[in-house]
Amino acid sequence: MERTFAIIKPDATARNLVPTVLQRIQDEEFKIVGMKLTRLSAQAAQGFYGEHRERPFFNDLVEFMTSGPVVLLALERSNAITHWRSVMGATNPDAADEGTLRSEIGENVERNSVHGSDSEASSKREISYFFNCFELL
Ligand code: RTP
Ligand code: MG
Repeated sequence: MERTFAIIKPDATARNLVPTVLQRIQDEEFKIVGMKLTRLSAQAAQGFYGEHRERPFFNDLVEFMTSGPVVLLALERSNAITHWRSVMGATNPDAADEGTLRSEIGENVERNSVHGSDSEASSKREISYFFNCFELL
């Protein structure tokens, strides 16, 4: 068993797509071990996306991620990290394979509806960034 960290981003919560994403999480046989509805502060978003600080899209990304509610999720299953990345599809919804979440509900390269950890180290960092041990069941 492995854990990954996922976010249902503000573009998806704004369109009431939380149930759509949760249904897909169930269909893909993930177990939800942590879940919170919240709105990120600028500081929280900047820290979370720290690896992208020098990228030209960084300020836009922080503005977008703080623009509305998000759902933070810790998910568990076999090969959780790779599997969730394949369920999400490519960063740009136009390039994402048919049937992936980003292809189905993503709006553009920024407003792409969902996040997923890209490695074991990221997963550990990201889960502990948002959840303490009592919030992981
Ligand atoms: P994520 O971290 O959100 O799961 O997405 P990812 O690994 O597929 O993509 P990454 O390169 O880590 O980029 C993080 C998020 O930044 C936004 N982005 N905007 N305007 C742009 O060119 C651009 N490129 C990336 C997206 O919201 C992306 O998910
Ligand atoms: Mg990423």
